[in-house]
Amino acid sequence: MGNRDIRILADAGELSRAAAEEFVRQAEEAVRTRGLFTVALSGGSTSKAMYRLLANDDEPLLRGRVPWGKIHFFWGDERHVPPDHLDSNYRTAHEAMLSRVPIPAENVHRIKAEDPDARNAAADYDQQLRTFFFPRRMTVEALPRFDLVLLGLGPDGHTASLFPGTDAIHEQTRFVAAPWVEKFHAYRITLAPPVLNNAACILVLVSGEEKAEALRTVLEGAYQPDQFPAQLIRPTLGSLLWLVDRAAARLLRLPG
Ligand code: 6PG
Repeated sequence: MGNRDIRILADAGELSRAAAEEFVRQAEEAVRTRGLFTVALSGGSTSKAMYRLLANDDEPLLRGRVPWGKIHFFWGDERHVPPDHLDSNYRTAHEAMLSRVPIPAENVHRIKAEDPDARNAAADYDQQLRTFFFPRRMTVEALPRFDLVLLGLGPDGHTASLFPGTDAIHEQTRFVAAPWVEKFHAYRITLAPPVLNNAACILVLVSGEEKAEALRTVLEGAYQPDQFPAQLIRPTLGSLLWLVDRAAARLLRLPG
């Protein structure tokens, strides 16, 4: 796959740094050429380490280079909880980064997962995407195109909140889905695969021994996206960069 690249970093710390440097490079480029940068953040601990690094005052070559005021922050998925809940992906990013850097409030496009009905939260986020990406159009034939979509990988092969066996895997019309995830006995809200795959760049961060089996299956196993939804991630007109550490890459049969 020509537009897929896999980079193996020594450890989680080097992975976070490589991801942060890639974020900065892309943000600078997008703002230089288009005046803004749109990014869909992921949840989980791997991306949280990168958020912390980007916001770190002791990292002038990272934080100091980010055009914070020109970035629009979205989320690739959210848990069905209020924004101040410990499980909230918004709260994770807010605490690790957004509350520590100069970002205009109107540049933060949160999934309103406090809504008791997850389908309403998904519909609201869908409308936010339409209003932002297609402000002057009543009907929309195109898909939102993020400059960057950040993703993680679960040990079960999920990414965003596309979990094995859930109907969100097959969502082809709505921009946003609200799948019931039995193993959590909860709803999630997630960007649908076509929107994820319409990104200019998808960056997947994978760290740790516990991800090795899932990573090998997703990258080198038979194509079974219902069981390993991360296999759905194949940008149509964009690039896909897997940033993985040695522990997660242990079972890969890559050359070199
Ligand atoms: C979420 C994330 C999810 C995450 C993976 C990896 O809402 O949990 O969006 O897709 O990225 O589960 O999480 P870790 O980085 O914590 O392993």
